Amino acid sequence: MAYQGILQRYGSLLGLPDHTQQVTLLEGGTPLVPVPGLVEKLGGDFELFVKFEGLNPTGSFKDRGMTAAVSEAVGRGAEAVICASTGNTAASAAAYAARAGLRAIVLIPEGKVAAGKLAGAIVYGAQVIQVQGSFDDALALVVEITQRTPLALVNSLNPYRLEGQKSAAFEICDTLGAAPDWLCLPVGNAGNITAYWMGFEQYHALKKTGLPQLLGAQAAGAAPLVLGHPVEQPETIATAIRIGRPARGEQALQAAQESRGRILAVSDDEILAAQQMLAGEGLWVEPASAAGLAGLKAEVEAGNLDPRGKRIVVVCTGHGLKDPDVITHSMEKPRVIPAEMGALVDVIKVG
Ligand code: F0G
Repeated sequence: MAYQGILQRYGSLLGLPDHTQQVTLLEGGTPLVPVPGLVEKLGGDFELFVKFEGLNPTGSFKDRGMTAAVSEAVGRGAEAVICASTGNTAASAAAYAARAGLRAIVLIPEGKVAAGKLAGAIVYGAQVIQVQGSFDDALALVVEITQRTPLALVNSLNPYRLEGQKSAAFEICDTLGAAPDWLCLPVGNAGNITAYWMGFEQYHALKKTGLPQLLGAQAAGAAPLVLGHPVEQPETIATAIRIGRPARGEQALQAAQESRGRILAVSDDEILAAQQMLAGEGLWVEPASAAGLAGLKAEVEAGNLDPRGKRIVVVCTGHGLKDPDVITHSMEKPRVIPAEMGALVDVIKVG
């Protein structure tokens, strides 16, 4: 049968209520891409895969949680969904709401959302509201208004978001036939690392697939889980994870600890270098998405993580097309030539 999305594939393992009415864009089923070229660069002698979540329908992993959250909301008769977002959740909520015929309202931090995400939220027809403040300020507003009105909250405080996001852990185990030794991923509001751990634990109990160690990476300018306290003014080029007060922070720390892993901070330079490394393998991911690889590289180079003989998965959460400005702003303009063969030969210097 043709692929029908994660609720069809894993529905019985996702804790969704009976009233759930499936709303899908055929999310999930993303590739686990081997990257032997990066293994070489990191010293060799292990296996490395990228779970390329940027290939979901709206270009990020958020679609896994959103199909679950919107399907539940529709089933209980909700007419509108609302979320705070650094961009990807907004675009995903907007798309699934459009699919379901619901109204979507998204709050984003003013001027801090990448172009591809903002455009997504707009094109799918959401009401986009810029808040003069951070993601954390926007989330506080959204939480309060959903306590007073029937608007359905679709941030990862909504438990069904995590249920849907567990599906990525199931897919990795199904593809590899076991859990990896390490799973490396970015951490922002901390829903995803929490959901992965729930998924791996569930599959392990059910199918004896083993458990990975989790390596979560926060941006150094937005690293409350590393510092041990909220960050009032988070700042990073990886705007997707520019979050100072993660809603699922406690659970994320517990997941990392239970897995015998950790959450660490990586600098913007390390994130951009990892983005370039991935692009060198033909995988263009947005900056936040490269944080997992940046964390792995830092730990391997510091001698804190011995990759030899291990099977490691790096989760790349969003597509590079979401945030083209990071690249185009820092590069030299491509050379312009007259439409003449002589000029072309001069420039490319072949033969
Ligand atoms: N990577 C990307 C591309 C993201 O957009 C996010 C979160 C994360 C990683 C971190 O995941 O929050 O579950 O720890 N983006 C949210 C949003 C906050 O609004 O789109 P997390």
